[in-house]
Amino acid sequence: MSSRIETIKVTGGAPLRGEVAVLGAKNAVLKHMVAAMLAPGDHVLDNVPGIADVAIMGEVLSHAGATCQREGNSLQITVPERPNPEAPLQLVRKMRASILILGALLARCGEARVALPGGDDFGSRPIDMHLDGLREMGATFELSHGVLRGTAPDGLHASDIYLEFPSVGATENILLAAAMASGTSTISNAAREPELADLAEYLNKMGAKIEGAGTSSITVHGVPGLEPANHRVVPDRLEAGTYALAGAITGGAVTIIDCVPDHLRMELRKMAAAGCEVSTGEDWVTVAGPERASPVDFATLPYPGFHTDMHPQMVAFLATADGTSIVTENVYAARFRYVGELNRMGADITTDGQHVVVRGVDEMSGCEVDGCDIRAAAALVLAGLVADGETRVVDADHIDRGYAGFVPKMVALGARISRT
Ligand code: UD1
Repeated sequence: MSSRIETIKVTGGAPLRGEVAVLGAKNAVLKHMVAAMLAPGDHVLDNVPGIADVAIMGEVLSHAGATCQREGNSLQITVPERPNPEAPLQLVRKMRASILILGALLARCGEARVALPGGDDFGSRPIDMHLDGLREMGATFELSHGVLRGTAPDGLHASDIYLEFPSVGATENILLAAAMASGTSTISNAAREPELADLAEYLNKMGAKIEGAGTSSITVHGVPGLEPANHRVVPDRLEAGTYALAGAITGGAVTIIDCVPDHLRMELRKMAAAGCEVSTGEDWVTVAGPERASPVDFATLPYPGFHTDMHPQMVAFLATADGTSIVTENVYAARFRYVGELNRMGADITTDGQHVVVRGVDEMSGCEVDGCDIRAAAALVLAGLVADGETRVVDADHIDRGYAGFVPKMVALGARISRT
């Protein structure tokens, strides 16, 4: 697994050109690892990125009694007959996705003790929809000393669940619980993310009976037990989108291979509207940047809308556009810490509630900035690629949570970048 880093140093001015391959999606593999807990025995996941979050989830699974062994890009997960139904604070606080183990442990053990999650700092990030859904399936919860204890002594039963918002995590937690609940469940207003459809595909390989994943209405016919399975993780659209914008911001051209351009439709459409030349094949996309971007407005929305996790990188791209862009953040109202950092580099960006007004400047200049979170750190590196002089992104270890081999891949594309 990748080691932690302190600072990424970027010297601006070099156009990025060439080809880069992406691996499996962080936001899929973490859920697949949890899903493996539903079936005792040996599972193999392929196309697994060597990112820090996979290592953390490996520790969460180990604590629950599973073993994870990595070989190249494959991860073998051996799940015990009787998992330990617990996820402790020192692990959960590192990564919000750990909360997904709640539904899986309740389904397997009839009990789960999970510390309340941490993760990226985008405001409070509640889990009320996860808990409401699981309650409707027969679980009860009590919170004591920061640990949430869920029980379902008589097992979970099917339910018709209508989500208030198409939350990715809530849909996944409910899906994991419903896979082995008695009866047929429906999830309405479900998240439609490709990573979630991929999770359902893996669960179906394990013997689950899930229909409609990838649409807003999912039906789950509960089965009494699941078998281990092998699965190749869907490519990471966020990694692909970040490299596309890294090339575009420098006026270069980057081809991303082993990806699914169809999963990036809205983001690519907005890049094109900003003046990029975009060409796609089934599993590759080339994005060539304009000399100077045109301003473009966009709003983040659940899939198939513009992904909130591409918002900071797109704003970095628009920071030097020829005019003013307006961005509306509809998923995480507090996702703006990176704005102050871009402004320290000379950007002219203001926020008003959930809106960001990006007035394009002629140039930015490098300085020391704080990485804040995974996508903020990526956005600041992107800005550093065009800023005058040297940019030092501190707290850049966030990058390792979501991007495997980020610095070497950028170097191969021609970036003047290093880590210390
Ligand atoms: C996942 C992704 C994250 C991405 C997000 C939206 C992983 C590990 N993380 O996060 O990278 O940015 O989807 O695409 O896959 N909410 C509630 N109550 C709940 C659950 C969510 O109010 O019970 C709110 C959240 O605070 C947020 C919004 O709903 O404002 C969306 O959250 P959600 O879709 O659940 O995102 P995550 O699954 O946490």
